[in-house]
Amino acid sequence: KGQITLTMIKPYAVKRHHVGDILAEIEHAGFSIRAMKMVQLPKEKAELFYAEHKGKPFFAALVEFMSSGPIVAALLQKENAVADFRKLIGSTDPHEAEEGTIRRKYATDKTRNAIHGSDSDESAIRESRFFFSSMEEFFCVPE
Ligand code: CMP
Repeated sequence: KGQITLTMIKPYAVKRHHVGDILAEIEHAGFSIRAMKMVQLPKEKAELFYAEHKGKPFFAALVEFMSSGPIVAALLQKENAVADFRKLIGSTDPHEAEEGTIRRKYATDKTRNAIHGSDSDESAIRESRFFFSSMEEFFCVPE
């Protein structure tokens, strides 16, 4: 099982001052931060990141939203990272997300859904390359 996943704290959550609380939840759930940065994605970069969703009805709104303000991107490490992180954040739609999940607490709707998590080990690798160079990545040795 892969040990890394890529997350983005999305624009509306950053704007509403939820970065610290969300990072605290992530760390308390046992994830180590291996790389992190705050950036605003140009529209073309948001389109590239979400290329697999091109053609879907929500694509334009997704790209518009994701480029509307700064995000916090982080590369996270943990055993079984992808699946455990998706469990921590909950369903895409915050109204369907389980009690206690990050999206249930901080998301507004399916677009302003607070946080992203990679959907597979392959996506995690692609998405981490998208944001981070090898010099920006730190190796966490489990305690
Ligand atoms: P994310 O985990 O970043 O990956 C793809 C994003 O597309 C997802 O979060 C949602 O924000 C968005 N998305 C997926 N399905 C829908 C939908 N049915 N309506 C609106 N946005 C969606």
